[in-house]
Amino acid sequence: MELTPNLVPLARLVGTWAGEGVGEYPTVASFPYHEEITFAFVGKPFLVYTQRTRSADGRPLHMETGYLRHTGDGHVEFVLALPTGQVELAEGTLRSDDDGLSLELDARVWSTSTAKDVSASKRTYRIVGDTLDTVLDMEAVGQPMARHLASRLVRQA
Ligand code: HEM
Repeated sequence: MELTPNLVPLARLVGTWAGEGVGEYPTVASFPYHEEITFAFVGKPFLVYTQRTRSADGRPLHMETGYLRHTGDGHVEFVLALPTGQVELAEGTLRSDDDGLSLELDARVWSTSTAKDVSASKRTYRIVGDTLDTVLDMEAVGQPMARHLASRLVRQA
C-alpha cells in the first residue's frame, strides 16, 4: 500500500521497533525495561501507534496507543491514550536530514480524577539507519520537567 503524500516524510518510521530502555524519575528508583513499538500505515493519512513494555523479568509494564499525523509542512501531531488515566495531545516538528529523521513533540497532558497527575511531556524520536532512540521527559506529581524514559530500539524484520 502506497503511503499518502503527507506521510512520505515519515516513511522511515513505519514498522516495528524493539529494544531496551531505562526509566527514572526524581520520585522513583531507576529501572530497565524492554519495549516494542509499531507505527502502522492503515491506508489513511495518519500512522497508528502501539507500544508495549515489560520488565527485565518479563512482567507487563506500561503500554499506550495513539495516532500520528503530519500536516505536510514539518508539523506533526500525536494523540495518545494511556491506561494509567492520562491523555496526551502532542505537537511538534519533523526534521529529515542526511543522517536520519527526528521528531520533537511537546504535549499537554490531562489526567483523570484518580490518576497520578501528569501535566506535560516532551517526546523525541530519532532514527539513524535501523536504530530508533526515544526519550520522554515529563512534568508530573509536583516535579518540574524531568527525564522518565530513554530507549534504543532496532528495526524488526
Ligand atoms: C516505557 C513506558 C513506561 C514505563 C516502562 C514506565 C514505568 C514506570 C514505573 C516502573 C514507575 C514506578 C512505579 C509506579 O509508580 O508504577 C513509573 C511511575 C510513573 N510513571 Fe511511568 N512508565 C512509562 C511511561 C510513562 C508515561 C508515558 C507517563 C506519562 C506521560 C508515565 C507517568 C508516570 C508517573 C506519573 C509515575 C509516578 C511517579 C510517582 O508517583 O512518583 N509513565 N513508571
